[in-house]
Amino acid sequence: MSKTQRLAQLARQHGTPLFVVDHQVLRSNYARFRRFLPRVQAYYAVKANSEPAIIRTLYETGASFDVASLAEFMLVYENIRKLPARARQDFIWDKIIYSNPIKDRKTLEELDPYKPLVTYDNREEIGKIRRHAPHAGLALRIRVANTGSMVELSSKFGASPGEAVDLILEAADAGLTVEGLSFHVGSQCTNFDNYVQALSVSAAIMEESEVRGVPLQLLDIGGGFPARYDRHVRPFRDLARILNAELDRLFPKSMEILSEPGRFMVATAATLVAEVIGKARRDGKQCYYINDGIYHTFSGILFDHCPYHVRAFRRGRKEISAVFGPTCDALDVISQAEELPDLKLGDLVYSENIGAYTHASSTRFNGFPPAQVVHINRK
Ligand SMILES: Cc1ncc(COP(=O)(O)O)c(C=O)c1O
Repeated sequence: MSKTQRLAQLARQHGTPLFVVDHQVLRSNYARFRRFLPRVQAYYAVKANSEPAIIRTLYETGASFDVASLAEFMLVYENIRKLPARARQDFIWDKIIYSNPIKDRKTLEELDPYKPLVTYDNREEIGKIRRHAPHAGLALRIRVANTGSMVELSSKFGASPGEAVDLILEAADAGLTVEGLSFHVGSQCTNFDNYVQALSVSAAIMEESEVRGVPLQLLDIGGGFPARYDRHVRPFRDLARILNAELDRLFPKSMEILSEPGRFMVATAATLVAEVIGKARRDGKQCYYINDGIYHTFSGILFDHCPYHVRAFRRGRKEISAVFGPTCDALDVISQAEELPDLKLGDLVYSENIGAYTHASSTRFNGFPPAQVVHINRK
């Protein structure tokens, strides 16, 4: 059965809108990451898609996890709840990072008994961690170039390289354990120079920190690993070759290298199937209304700056058409220019590679619930 036949069958069985997660793709993305970057431990960034079944599959595959909130921490914790206490604690130490540099006091207090690894990037945070989570290990998040990345993060987070060593010493003086550095080159980073620069800045900071009495043993190279949305994205193999060479050149074998891939793991693992629920010709242009939109699975168009193509199952002569979501809101525009055949009411359409930062930011706006999720190839 072809992929589209399978999607149509699932839509008939479960209804639409339907968010189809293929766990075989998840497993193969994880395996690919590990194969190409053997030195780098992969902490799946749960924020990209926090479906418990996705976390479960990656857990079973051996992944580590990057969490951004206590709620995400607990989603991962569910998988280790039944482990013996010692194994559970080891998992938290070795395989979870709380990577949100800003944490409220209550979260820190609730995290402290788990002694997690957390990131920080400013002085206020040191004081907060000292008071509310003194048992946490720390990684200083530094600001690095995000040039050309689809989603920039550098204006919101990261200590400037010039203040980095002072912030490391200050945390150490406060009695905290600083284990290493972290950075993020921006999401969907297709400019691989960002990584090269970030690694060289990190190596320089580590060198100075050691000279000034605080040696570091961990480097977290963040996320940003691009998903292959189209053929213009250079293959992961090319990035891996650059990263491996730079990691070996700049850091001793003993340095623990972490990463926080979100999009890379999950983007290509999901496809959305929706249904044409309305049709009109406006100013000569063919317009389709489907039962999923910008406030739901296509929310990534807005929040993630990521365009998605809508494809038809039906064949026929194509025409440039607009595709709108189901709400009354004028912002609910999926595309003003999709090449689509003449679709009928009730026809199915689909969007591929829609697994990251989409369902995760779906709302219930206008009373429409998020798409139903169905998992395939779980074992
Ligand atoms: C701290 C942190 N780590 C990891 C990620 C995941 O990044 P990506 O999906 O680009 O791999 C993000 C995304 O915003 C992030 O903020």
